[in-house]
Order: sequence, then C-alpha cells, then structure tokens
Amino acid sequence: GAAVEADISGLKPGEKMTVEWRGNPVWIVRRTPEMLADLAKNDPQLVDPQSKVSSQQPAYAQNPTRSINPEYLVAIGICTHLGCSPSDKFATGAQPSLPDDWLGGFFCPCHGSTFDLAGRVFKNKPAPTNLEIPPHVYLSDAKLLIG
Ligand code: FES
Repeated sequence: GAAVEADISGLKPGEKMTVEWRGNPVWIVRRTPEMLADLAKNDPQLVDPQSKVSSQQPAYAQNPTRSINPEYLVAIGICTHLGCSPSDKFATGAQPSLPDDWLGGFFCPCHGSTFDLAGRVFKNKPAPTNLEIPPHVYLSDAKLLIG
C-alpha cells in the first residue's frame, strides 16, 4: 500500500498526532523523559514486556521502547482485541475502571484493555497482543515515512 509521510516537527513533548495509513489511524506520541522512565516500571504487569510476538512490530522496533527513536512511539491505534480505537490516558486518574497501578497510556473503552506508552498490553484485559507498530523510517528528524 501507499506509504504516508508525517511531519512531526510541531509535535511537543507529551503530545500525540494521528495520520491515516491504509485506512487505519497511526499514532505518533512524543514521549517525555518521565513517560520513558515509567515504561520499565510496567514490565512485571505486562503480557509481553519484550514484545516477542514478532508480528506486532518490525524487528527494528523489538526493543524496550518499541521504537527507532525512543522519544517517538509510532503505533497503529486499533485495539488488538476486537478493533476498537483506544483513547489516550496519558496520566492515571481516579477512574474506577482503570487499574490503580497503571501509569497511563491508552484505554480501550469497548472491553477495558489497557496499554502502556509503548503500546504494550497491561494486565491482559482482554487484548491478546501489544498494539501493532507499522513499518516506518525517519526521512529526517522532522519527517517520518510510514508504510
Ligand atoms: Fe478493545 Fe475489546 S476491542 S478491549
């Protein structure tokens, strides 16, 4: 399918933008140092902390931050359970449906799956695999090619 370019020059730390690729939303999140530091804390509660299911990301994103450049998460914004689009929950709040020990990320309203800021499933409820990372490459510091 046709690759799509994303200009990430305007994305500030802690922000997310969405581009469309093959009819799917691709999220690009510019992670803050705090967000990156929190990732490792999630590991004990994750289904697949090392993202070993190889179909969920290209080999170059099979690392602790699931990225080429740790500052940017690039992920397909479709829940791996039944295909809903999760919402951003970049800070944990006092919401009864969310695990207290979850440090935030994405929450799927359909059946309650939670993902961290590397798109990894937190506590296996009920998404089976991490969010998919699409093939991508940096054309420059400010430009990504997805696909
Ligand atoms: Fe996301 Fe079911 S579709 S939890």
